[in-house]
Amino acid sequence: MQIITYHELKDKTDLFLIWAKSFGWLCTPKQMDHWVKIDERLVGTPVGVCAIIDGNLAGFVGVMEIPTRNKHGETEIVGGIWGVATRPMYGRQGVGGHLLEAAESHFRSKGFRLSLLTTSRTLISYRGYVSFGYREVEKINSYPHFYKIPQRGAKVDPFPPGAKGKTPKLELERICSNFNRFARNYCGFTNRLIGVLKEQQQMGYFESRYTVVQDEGHLLANSQMGSLWVSEMIAFNKKTSRELIQRAVKLSGAGIFVRNVFDPFAATTLEKLSFRRDLGAYSVLMAKPLEGASFDDVYDDTFLWSVADFF
Ligand SMILES: CC(C)(COP(=O)(O)OP(=O)(O)OC[C@H]1O[C@@H](n2cnc3c(N)ncnc32)[C@H](O)[C@@H]1OP(=O)(O)O)[C@@H](O)C(=O)NCCC(=O)NCCS
Repeated sequence: MQIITYHELKDKTDLFLIWAKSFGWLCTPKQMDHWVKIDERLVGTPVGVCAIIDGNLAGFVGVMEIPTRNKHGETEIVGGIWGVATRPMYGRQGVGGHLLEAAESHFRSKGFRLSLLTTSRTLISYRGYVSFGYREVEKINSYPHFYKIPQRGAKVDPFPPGAKGKTPKLELERICSNFNRFARNYCGFTNRLIGVLKEQQQMGYFESRYTVVQDEGHLLANSQMGSLWVSEMIAFNKKTSRELIQRAVKLSGAGIFVRNVFDPFAATTLEKLSFRRDLGAYSVLMAKPLEGASFDDVYDDTFLWSVADFF
């Protein structure tokens, strides 16, 4: 098995295949090349490591260099693992493991103290990550989730058509500055990057039609079967938090699911507006110490991570 970087992989067509087979993610080489140029976490990095067997692409592990804030208020760049996929015919032959080691050795060569990744406890890879030394970041597991199915008339279409009207252009800078203002007293993922935000929008994680941005808060959402899937909600005052939720109720033809609510103020308002609250999720953020420093040596209890920063 030969291991090369994303940049060294001449023909990237089979990345499309392995991501499609692994996640149902249809990302073309041209789209990835575009994100490699705008996503600040990828610019100037190897982007990923690729395993080649008999001239075929056998697997991929993405690498990111993510700026975070440590508990001393300093910039702490951490490694981010993404897009982990082995071509099924090469599965269970150590491809994923060797690529993960190559990715971590890149992080070590840069002096990073932690490697982080997002996954689901329901995936087979979860067990592999645990045996490689990754552990769940418990703080994320404490974020509550909220949901509501507003009462509608009996004659209302169970699959309501999407919101109509002109789609406003999203003010991504305002989303960044709202988030960065909110994150001032936290450590962790406190720096919202504009390139990353553009990329998340292009991937459809939030849509301008369903996203509400104000000076004192915002709500990032997309729609599925008429329901709203809210990835982030922050508000700096009661009035804004009520307005954001009322607007979301209007935009949704069916239900609303607000996940990973890290803003205690938003959580209180959602509860007051009779959203149901639930704890626990299958998606997890995992971390592995690379240089002897533990997660708690780097961050404290104010650690913040939003699903809008998913990687
Ligand atoms: C997860 C994935 C990348 C593993 O790739 P791989 O090349 O088969 O992995 P390896 O052979 O190096 O195995 C690494 C470890 O993963 C776990 N694992 C992988 N496949 C497994 C399986 N079918 N059953 C049980 N454990 C498995 C094991 O812990 C294994 O270690 P072990 O063989 O010492 O028990 C591959 O299954 C895949 O592409 N899955 C679909 C995409 C995906 O879920 N990616 C991860 C997203 S976070």
